[in-house]
Amino acid sequence: MTIIGLAKGLRDSAFGIYLVKTETQVNGATLLIVEDDPAMLVAFRDILEGNGFVVSTATNGTDALVALQEENPALIMSDISMPGMDGIELYKAVRQRPNGAAIPFIFVTARGTREDIFAAKALGVDDYITKPVTSRELLAAVRARLQRSDEIMLVQLKAVLRAMANAIEARAGEYTLRHVEAVNAYSQALGLELEWDQDDLESLEFGAILHDVGKIGVPEKVLSKTGPLNEDEWAEMRMHTIYGAHMIEGNPYLDSALPVVRHHHERWDGGGYPDQLAGEDIPIGARLLAIADTFHAMTSDRPYRAALSAQEAFEEILSQSEQQFDPAMVEAFERCWHRGDIAKIHKSVQSIAVDDSMITTA
Ligand SMILES: [Fe+2]
Repeated sequence: MTIIGLAKGLRDSAFGIYLVKTETQVNGATLLIVEDDPAMLVAFRDILEGNGFVVSTATNGTDALVALQEENPALIMSDISMPGMDGIELYKAVRQRPNGAAIPFIFVTARGTREDIFAAKALGVDDYITKPVTSRELLAAVRARLQRSDEIMLVQLKAVLRAMANAIEARAGEYTLRHVEAVNAYSQALGLELEWDQDDLESLEFGAILHDVGKIGVPEKVLSKTGPLNEDEWAEMRMHTIYGAHMIEGNPYLDSALPVVRHHHERWDGGGYPDQLAGEDIPIGARLLAIADTFHAMTSDRPYRAALSAQEAFEEILSQSEQQFDPAMVEAFERCWHRGDIAKIHKSVQSIAVDDSMITTA
């Protein structure tokens, strides 16, 4: 996947975080096989298609480059010796393309001398398989490369989104120092306490990173106002949940965070926004994040009031059980508190925020 932009037409449907999806999922990924031996090409294609991959083929480097103008394969598997453009030249050409640098590239070749392997690895090729190759070896190599590629993309995506979210938060002034990181840390502690699985924790992380991203649509004079907001300003502020949801909807990687982004200001008693959902109608991730978000907001200095102590904020969360918050979430938070998890995160968030303000004011 590649991030190509954050459009800023905020009052219309054109704004959003746009990602180009290059089929990086391990299952069902599109692969390009480049091989001049017809029997070998058919054999590779059959093995890979038989295991759920979508396969396109080319018989030399030149044809492969033509195919790359039409599609974004998740992986390229190429022979080296081919008529016309060989595998080495193809590899170099692919790496020079704007979207070619990140595509895993595997050589599958009969040329298996030490020098050949060394030359291929020196070029930076991701893997090198020598023929004859079993279907098991082939599948293992392809899956390992796709898996690794997905992991790297995910780390990069999170880093870019986090930087973007922090930049948006920074418009609201110093209170938001490390807000995204803090909310994520508290949320993950709660998710682990509730024994959420890896996929749900991942969605929660995207929710924590993006929960306030819609603030990009809220005027800066409202975000950074030091006094209490008037009714019109509150109306503007409440829109951040809707802007944020619009920004990520329809995005294959971020869709799972949408319920958190839209509903993190709903209240258990139905008095929240934007949709006045109540009780278990509020998506579970949003019920969880609401506690993490509120706890960090209360324990942070605001322009018009000093931070509450962690103890005071904890008591405030307890007092809002069944009003603002899901009682089951409050109980989970209480268990994390008594185990010392919350205090530990609070301490590390405070020390990072102090470091940041020293850097900012230096
Ligand atoms: Fe928010």
